[in-house]
Amino acid sequence: MLAVFAAVLAGCGDQQSALAPKSHASTDIASLFWWMMGISWAGLALVVGMMVFAWRRARRRRTTAGPHEHERVGFAVVIGAGVIFPIVLVAALFVISDIFVIQTTQAPAKSKTRLTIVVTGHQWWWEARYQGTSAVTANEIHIPVRTPVRVEVQTADVIHSFWVPRLNRTIDAMPGRRNAIELYADAVGRYRGQCDEFCGLQHAHMAFYVVADPPNVFRRWLASQAKPATASGPGKAVFMSASCANCHAIRGTSASGPVGPDLTHLQSRTTIGALTLPNTRADLSEWITDSQHVKPGNQMPDMRLHGALLNALLDYLEALK
Ligand code: CUA
Repeated sequence: MLAVFAAVLAGCGDQQSALAPKSHASTDIASLFWWMMGISWAGLALVVGMMVFAWRRARRRRTTAGPHEHERVGFAVVIGAGVIFPIVLVAALFVISDIFVIQTTQAPAKSKTRLTIVVTGHQWWWEARYQGTSAVTANEIHIPVRTPVRVEVQTADVIHSFWVPRLNRTIDAMPGRRNAIELYADAVGRYRGQCDEFCGLQHAHMAFYVVADPPNVFRRWLASQAKPATASGPGKAVFMSASCANCHAIRGTSASGPVGPDLTHLQSRTTIGALTLPNTRADLSEWITDSQHVKPGNQMPDMRLHGALLNALLDYLEALK
């Protein structure tokens, strides 16, 4: 049963499983999980074994005279195995998890890392700002592979929780404070993350990717994200006048709205709506005209654009490379 359970978890965890670790922190967490699981099963086997043993003895005792000398031994077993042993075991697990695993999953100090990303949880998407550069992105956070990155997590509204199961434990985004955690990936790849604190209607659609790139690819990505947008065309005027600019920022233009994601390099992302839709022209069009159907309750109103205006706007958004 345990093997089947593990296989199922590992199988569905290709993208988002704490039992398919890809960093030293998540490896420690997974080992702790398997140790606790093993000890729990051993404990269960012991209890069931003792119950079967007692049941068989009780049946035998009904046929012969009941001796009383075993009562003191029974009492010692109850106190020793039922009270002292569990207290010692649970205390040991607490110390191991608290001292060792919590320590190894901690954020690197600012002096020990060259990269700090400030991640802000919004209902219902993630904003990422790269400290020391003007790069801002949403829901797709790039990091260099095999490099400890300090992530400082905060919120713009309610409590959220930032969790990339294959890379580290979860960290809460609490109003009025910043919590920090380490992001580190052993291998190049894309790791799915998810808000794991219920935060309203679209909590489930508050997902994100962490993309671990080779260092030179990451440097190029960061440099291009830091640049302002260069796109122009008739759609730019539509964006500025149709109130898109009140909520979204496009660096290099007058649009600086803080409500929705920064769209300066929209086309560098693979999804829209915090991994709700793929980033294609058709999906973008659906999002602009009827986002409440796709993700009910989100902050984006129906823009009531169609025909030539909508096409011009889509042309402009698709040019935001
Ligand atoms: Cu944000 Cu759940």
